Amino acid sequence: MIERTVRGVRVPGVMYGTAWKEDRTQELVEEAFVTGYRAFDTANQRKHYHEAAVGEALRGRERGQLFLQTKFTHRAGQDHRLPYDAVAPIGTQVEQSFGSSLAHLHTTYVDAYVLHGPSTTRGLAPEDVDAWRAMERLHDTGAAHLLGVSNVTRDQLEQLCGLARVPPAFVQNRCHATRGWDADVRALCRRRDVTYQGFSLLTANRATLARPLFDEVMHRTGGTREQIVFRFAVQVGMLPLTGTSSPQHMRDDLAIDDFELTEREVEAIERAGAP
Ligand SMILES: NC(=O)c1ccc[n+]([C@@H]2O[C@H](COP(=O)([O-])OP(=O)(O)OC[C@H]3O[C@@H](n4cnc5c(N)ncnc54)[C@H](OP(=O)(O)O)[C@@H]3O)[C@@H](O)[C@H]2O)c1
Repeated sequence: MIERTVRGVRVPGVMYGTAWKEDRTQELVEEAFVTGYRAFDTANQRKHYHEAAVGEALRGRERGQLFLQTKFTHRAGQDHRLPYDAVAPIGTQVEQSFGSSLAHLHTTYVDAYVLHGPSTTRGLAPEDVDAWRAMERLHDTGAAHLLGVSNVTRDQLEQLCGLARVPPAFVQNRCHATRGWDADVRALCRRRDVTYQGFSLLTANRATLARPLFDEVMHRTGGTREQIVFRFAVQVGMLPLTGTSSPQHMRDDLAIDDFELTEREVEAIERAGAP
């Protein structure tokens, strides 16, 4: 399986996303592990994730084999099932949420800790800076090996990189082919040595995937449309996420080192979503 090293930490090339699985979370994460996935993305946000079920699924597995990533989610992104005290200062909320994540995941550290998203659509608010400072302190203790940020614009990432004492190692964003597969943010990631994690690579790009270009590449490589997208993602330096619930698709989404795209195919796919 494809693997990479991010700031000295080994990271599997494809990550299994655990959102929206509710009662099936444990069973599907177990299935993903058996299929060969070793990187798992979750969040201490009960509204969309069941982090404790992820922990149950992986309980007893050799910790050193796993790459576990979870997130701190601001109050506005949560429902009533908060993993922290709603009126505590943000720094305390981060500590409480993180402590609860470690308990859910039966671990003493996470490989990556991600700020789920800034609290405003433009710029960074004081609570985002407070959250990042608290995350940096967790990094200092050794309990969060790498830090990341999600759902950011290029400007927000630039601002964060400018103020961070511990710079982000990851960005996790929805990747729209119509925006050059998030070209602006990816370009900044390359400059700042940040690894880009792409989600909704399939669901956000249905029209692009239906283009004849994909039929041609399928014909040449023997890969499926979906495998071509994940292969493309890897070849342009992304770390793709899949949240499939199908055992067959779990296997397919991992089996993307069986073929390679040519430079021309990669360039054509880069442009495929342009209006
Ligand atoms: N940071 C954030 O705010 C945020 C937001 C959204 C998602 N995420 C993360 O990203 C993960 C992935 O989410 P996503 O939005 O990319 O959607 P997703 O939950 O992975 O959904 C992907 C869709 O593509 C289908 N699919 C996957 N592999 C396929 C294949 N090989 N062939 C055909 N269909 C295939 C799946 O159907 P089947 O189940 O039938 O295969 C599913 O309908 C989440 O679980 C979560 O961890 C993070």
